[in-house]
This record gives sequence, C-alpha cells and structure tokens, in this order.
Amino acid sequence: MNDFQLTRTLDEHAAETALREDVLHGLTHTPKILPPKWFYDARGSELFEEITRLSEYYPTRAEREILLERAREIAVESGARTLVELGSGSSEKTRHLIEAMPALDTYVPVDVSESALRGAAETLLAEHPGLRVHALLADFTRALRLPDSPGPRLVVFLGGTIGNLLPPERAVFLASVRAMLSPGDALLMGTDLVKDEAVLVAAYDDARGVTAEFNKNVLAVVNRELGADFHTADFAHVAVWNKEQEWIEMRLRARSDLVVKIRALDLVVPFAAGEEILTEVSAKFRQEGVRKELAAAGLELTQWWTDAAGRFALSLSVA
Ligand code: AVJ
Repeated sequence: MNDFQLTRTLDEHAAETALREDVLHGLTHTPKILPPKWFYDARGSELFEEITRLSEYYPTRAEREILLERAREIAVESGARTLVELGSGSSEKTRHLIEAMPALDTYVPVDVSESALRGAAETLLAEHPGLRVHALLADFTRALRLPDSPGPRLVVFLGGTIGNLLPPERAVFLASVRAMLSPGDALLMGTDLVKDEAVLVAAYDDARGVTAEFNKNVLAVVNRELGADFHTADFAHVAVWNKEQEWIEMRLRARSDLVVKIRALDLVVPFAAGEEILTEVSAKFRQEGVRKELAAAGLELTQWWTDAAGRFALSLSVA
C-alpha cells in the first residue's frame, strides 16, 4: 500500500472505561438511557449496513442521490486539497466525492474502527494511487488534532449522524469542528429532514424487524462486555416520533417486571413492566434550524442541497 499512515489517538482501555461509565450512569438514571455509540460492534455494524438497504430506510439513498448530483459543485466550491471524514466507516459515500476531486492531495478518514479505516484506505489507494491517506483512529466527538496537509480543507460529516446528538451536544460538536478549520475551509454535513410521521417511524421500525434487532443488539454488547444477563426477548423495540423535539426516539421496553444483573459492575438493575431504555435519538432538521446551529458555531451556511423528493439535505458551510 503506498502513502498510508494511521495515527492512534484512541486507547482501547478508554473505550472499556467509557462503556462501564455509560452503563452504570445510564441504567441507574431515570429514565434509563444508553448512548447509541454502543450499537456498533461487528454485529451492530452489519445490521446497520442491512438497514441502509431497507426500502423503508430512505436516508442513505437520498444522501447518495445528492452526493452523485452535487459532487462536482462541492469539489469546485470548496477547492479542497484535503478531505477529512468524521465517522468514515466504509468510506463508501465519500468515494463519490473523491472521484470528483482530482486536485485532492490528502484524505483523512476518522473512525473508531481500525479495520474499517484500513479496509477503506486499501480500496481508495488502489483506485487513487496518487492520494495520501492519513487515517485517525479516534472518537470524533472529542477534540481532534488533524495532521498537517495542504489546505483548503473540507470536513465531511455524512449520514445524518449529527442527529444522534442532543442540541447541547451538537453545539459542542460543531464548535469543535469549527476549531479544526482555518478561514476558507468548509464543512459538508448530512441532515435528515422533518417529514410525515408515518414515513419517519417506518424508517426506524421496518416490517422485517432489522431495526428491532439492531436496537436490541446493544443489550448483547452489554452482556458480552460487562457480563450482564439481559434476555433480548424480554424487551420490545419501540420507535416513536417526538413532535415537540422533532426527533425519532428508539427505546427498548421491558415486557414484564424483571431484574438484570451486570456482573462487571456488581450492579443489579430492576425494570418495571413497560419501563423503557432510551437507546437513540435521531433528530430531523429544517434548513433554518441548521443555518442557526452552524452560525452559532461560527460557520456560515453557503449551500443547501436536497434530493429530488426533499427528504434529506447536504449543507455546505464555511469558516
Ligand atoms: C447512522 C445515526 C444516521 O440515526 O438514522 C438507523 C442510525 N438508527 N436506524 C440514524 C440508525 C436506526 C442512523 N445514523
């Protein structure tokens, strides 16, 4: 593999500690809550890939439609020589961008999965031998130090994952992104849009139950990593539209009174019948709201592109 570097800023021990803290805090909190980052073990990542192919789950297709249509404009408008992708995963989405950016010098994928980083780099370098790839094994929600590379930079944060963050967390995240940028750098961000409740709920509660399995997988992660004895059959998948907050909530609802033991934490967690664990919010956006949140972080919205059906948006903003 030619010009590839990987910098580790995540230490494995930190992830283990973070899970312990999140589970201890989340399951002794009322209401109970578990952060969505813990969905993505190997099985969870596989289930998410399956979700992106479901007919009910439109965001991935909608975003890809915009990327294919606007990649050239994004390349020209940003003039980017460096592309930084937060939560790069398979980098499948970014290939459309990279193909439209002949002047690109360096690609900086940022992810918590080393295998995803190495796999994506291998594929991209095979197709773009002149590209320099400097991968960061890091949690992008924490302040990042980007490697030196030619400007201007384009930071991309796709998939609508910004919606997993609660409003205060989004403000902190966008400010940390702004801190990475120099004048003339840009952010390309994917946001799912507010729409008909039935369409939104179906996208998070598909007929085949893949999302239900994805949701319950977080219990399997806690069982394996912390020696818990959750039975996934004891919990029902719930997806509801919170119209006040304009976000989808995924929850796991206890079907009966039950008690779960978490051996590694020496913790016993009681559940009353009907009691729920909030496992994810997925916020849906409006253009004006995105403009305001970007502006509060010192970023000026310059382009707002949606798919033909107006389901999803890519925003370009500049520092
Ligand atoms: C990967 C966070 C964008 O919120 O739509 C998919 C995760 N959750 N189905 C989303 C998810 C349930 C997805 N993001």
